[in-house]
Amino acid sequence: MDLPEGRMALTVTGRKELAKDICEFTLARDDGAVLPSFTAGAHITVETPGGAMRRYSLLNDGSAPTSYVIAVKREANSRGGSASMHADVREGTVLNVDPPENEFELVEAPKYLLIAGGIGITPILSMARHLSAEGKAFRLIYCTRTPEETAYLDEVSSFPTATVHHDNGDIDDFYDFWDHFEKPGAEHVYCCGPAPLMEEIKALSGHWTEGRVHFEDFAGVDVVREDDVPFTVTIASTGREIEVPADRSILEALRDAGEKTVSSCESGTCGTCKCRLIEGEADHRDLVLMDEEKDDYIMICVSRAKSGDLVVDL
Ligand code: FES
Repeated sequence: MDLPEGRMALTVTGRKELAKDICEFTLARDDGAVLPSFTAGAHITVETPGGAMRRYSLLNDGSAPTSYVIAVKREANSRGGSASMHADVREGTVLNVDPPENEFELVEAPKYLLIAGGIGITPILSMARHLSAEGKAFRLIYCTRTPEETAYLDEVSSFPTATVHHDNGDIDDFYDFWDHFEKPGAEHVYCCGPAPLMEEIKALSGHWTEGRVHFEDFAGVDVVREDDVPFTVTIASTGREIEVPADRSILEALRDAGEKTVSSCESGTCGTCKCRLIEGEADHRDLVLMDEEKDDYIMICVSRAKSGDLVVDL
């Protein structure tokens, strides 16, 4: 089957267990040819064997890469994304991959503060390697629960200005960032991690100049939850009714039924899958729609019906 323009079929040439529930994958062309280049903070979009499109940050040097290196954490409630990467991807597996994009680019600054939580270390480590190689000043703070759950622990610890903090899941032992934010400095801040960490940094940096604190947040949304129930989506233009099972998103159900859909992040953060909501009450789970849009639009990669069924326009 022909791939959409730009999409590449890459072979997994390496798989390495990094920490509890975290695996590193290396992807390359069969002929070893150079792949599209990228800069620190970039990601690729991978079609997992389970059929989901997922974004993963790139870890290796992107100037003339012959491989792409990503790390994937198996999320507890994942069904087609990270779970499929862990269960179904081995050396030799071929994956469809969209070329690198970078919405988390380093800007020129006198110094940098890099903050990572959990698997959010992936773009942050790529930045730290780049800044270190360039001899630029940076501070890195890496927060995880335990050493066993910490990918790239030795490498991060080897940076002279890095702090690794384990909180053992105890809210009273969370890292206190206030000293870094109390007085706005000259640095640019880059933060990637779970939603509570990014919300805290947003709150602490409210008095900083706009554009000085940067976030990468495509990892934060549960697409399907344990207590989700099935419902029906009707496509307004054709009247076709499609069942959305409890363990599939609207987007996946439409795709399974052969409907043409567009998507990118599939985690409710990019806005690509936005559809008109014609009838029904949505359970909005995205991070994109403004409150005033929520009666009329729905992000079908993550949101569902609150009760009853939905009518949408694709
Ligand atoms: S695909 Fe990105 S918000 Fe739905």
